[in-house]
Amino acid sequence: MEIKTFAVIGAGQMGTGIAQVAASKGYTVVLNSTKDVSLEKAMHNIVLGLEKSVEKGKLSPEEKDKIVKKIMVTTRLGDIAPADFVVESVVEDERVKINLFRQLEEICRPEVILATNTSSVSLAKLAKVTNRSDKVIGMHFMYPPVQMKLVEIIRGLVTSDETFHIVKQLAINLGKTPIESKDLPCFITSRVIQTMINEAIYCLYEGVSVKEDIDTALKLGMNHPMGPLELADFIGLDVVLSMQQSMYEGFKDAKYRPCPLLTKYVESGFLGRKTGRGFYQYDEKGEKIY
Ligand SMILES: NC(=O)c1ccc[n+]([C@@H]2O[C@H](COP(=O)([O-])OP(=O)(O)OC[C@H]3O[C@@H](n4cnc5c(N)ncnc54)[C@H](O)[C@@H]3O)[C@@H](O)[C@H]2O)c1
Repeated sequence: MEIKTFAVIGAGQMGTGIAQVAASKGYTVVLNSTKDVSLEKAMHNIVLGLEKSVEKGKLSPEEKDKIVKKIMVTTRLGDIAPADFVVESVVEDERVKINLFRQLEEICRPEVILATNTSSVSLAKLAKVTNRSDKVIGMHFMYPPVQMKLVEIIRGLVTSDETFHIVKQLAINLGKTPIESKDLPCFITSRVIQTMINEAIYCLYEGVSVKEDIDTALKLGMNHPMGPLELADFIGLDVVLSMQQSMYEGFKDAKYRPCPLLTKYVESGFLGRKTGRGFYQYDEKGEKIY
């Protein structure tokens, strides 16, 4: 089946970017969210992003208008019924995603592939509530989806080769580089990054060094654009803890035990940049002040 209409469920920072990427490559996009306000914000951000590309001469004003017209927004999930492909990018909450997959099973034609942009939810749990587990797959975009080239494709235990190859080709058509991962906790990207972040927090906790030096070690020593503690603040310490807990519980291996210092920060409401305080402190604009 040729994919012409591409449904994106969830219009947060990831869903918005994925919708823009798909529309820019000529797909008709149906962008769904439960809230009107999220859809308005999503379209506003897409238009702003495209206008910047016009200013830089990367896009003509006509091309920008064409892309915007390719995106239809709706709060009614039933409106995605004509879609040939679905990727969900709603909040990282297992119960919400399981409930959504149940609904998608009802709404979408049986041949339609159901993809998830989850960073840590088990694909097996999502596939189980459908009657098409061979057509359930992970399509994990990186943030921000418009700029980042990587798409991690996650194969569940029974994802078919056909589904995998269709989604791999789709990622290429979207201008991305696909990599393949099995459905094990946090896949490749989040597993490696979260383990690094946790180790950096342990270095701070054990007094190996101060936060600035731990970050400088990775920035200047390993050429990382951000230090691991800065990165944790940027991602949000609640999100970091939740991913680390899912690895710890998923593998039942002590090496993934989240550092108690991270738990203490989250319990204190120090969630990183978004709350003005994490390992560092931030002003109202999100600029690091200490
Ligand atoms: N932010 C990242 O860096 C990143 C990177 C890769 C993958 N992800 C994954 O992408 C997904 C979305 O993350 P995000 O950062 O865009 O989150 P977000 O909080 O910015 O957006 C989530 C959106 O989903 C909407 N939503 C919630 N329940 C819904 C439902 N039942 N139906 C439709 N819409 C619903 C919310 O209103 C919100 O607009 C998560 O699974 C996350 O793990 C995030």
